[in-house]
Amino acid sequence: MANNPKLIAVTSGKGGTGKSSVCYGLGFTLAKQGNRTLIIELDFGLRCLDIMFGMSGNVEYDLGDVLTNKQEDILKAVATVPTASNLNILCAPKDPFMTVTAEQIVEICRKIRKHFDYIIIDTGAGINSHVFDIVEQANLILVVTTPDPICVRDATMMSDEFYRRGNKRQRLIINKVSKRELTSGKYKNLDEIIDAVGVQLIGVIPEDFTLKSSTGTGVNLPLNSPSLLAFDAISKRLMGDQIPLTIK
Ligand SMILES: Nc1ncnc2c1ncn2[C@@H]1O[C@H](COP(=O)(O)OP(=O)(O)OP(=O)(O)O)[C@@H](O)[C@H]1O
Ligand SMILES: [Mg+2]
Repeated sequence: MANNPKLIAVTSGKGGTGKSSVCYGLGFTLAKQGNRTLIIELDFGLRCLDIMFGMSGNVEYDLGDVLTNKQEDILKAVATVPTASNLNILCAPKDPFMTVTAEQIVEICRKIRKHFDYIIIDTGAGINSHVFDIVEQANLILVVTTPDPICVRDATMMSDEFYRRGNKRQRLIINKVSKRELTSGKYKNLDEIIDAVGVQLIGVIPEDFTLKSSTGTGVNLPLNSPSLLAFDAISKRLMGDQIPLTIK
């Protein structure tokens, strides 16, 4: 896939690390900075993006309709997020047994590439060949972990497999970071997490109640919310800006 649009895959070993929340936050902040942004959700049967953006019931078509040719015009299956200009979503099919190949995703991206600057893919969790094949088409893989030791180990296994396949275009996001927990001695510190996973850090997102409570309401994250500031910094790094790493 060529550099325009940038195709970013958000993935993790373990479920519940915050992949969809990262897509939500990066989608908002990339769009806010003037990038035409599309989030494609691949979590078949477990879709949540429509709810996260407060659009449940207002999404007419989804990726399943594109894959089955019920909606041949992909742009018509793309829903515009009403609370953010430049931001669009293509929701996962409701059918958990529907399958998609890497070739189909590449073809969809090829057909709509000229309309977007960034395409963010929200993958399902887990180490399976379906996720690997699709994620490998991306220009950049964002591996999301929390400080939890099980998440860290699963992120390590995931990224090791990408390395084994020769894919070095990976960056690490450490999500749900709370200073209290980090200093409890129960978890590895951030440096130890980065060393364990073996992937260069692109951002740390704090544990943030406002993120949890905003997703699903259709109301944007408050401007001063700690996670929004972290997403903003990651977006700018994705765009090539040198933004120092600060941890709130
Ligand atoms: N930084 C954060 N602070 C507080 N809560 C968070 C944060 N990130 C994610 N969450 C919460 O954690 C839960 C799981 O997040 P999310 O659905 O984004 O994970 P996921 O990796 O997409 O899960 P799945 O593997 O099931 O797709 C949600 O309730 C979400 O609101
Ligand atoms: Mg998810």
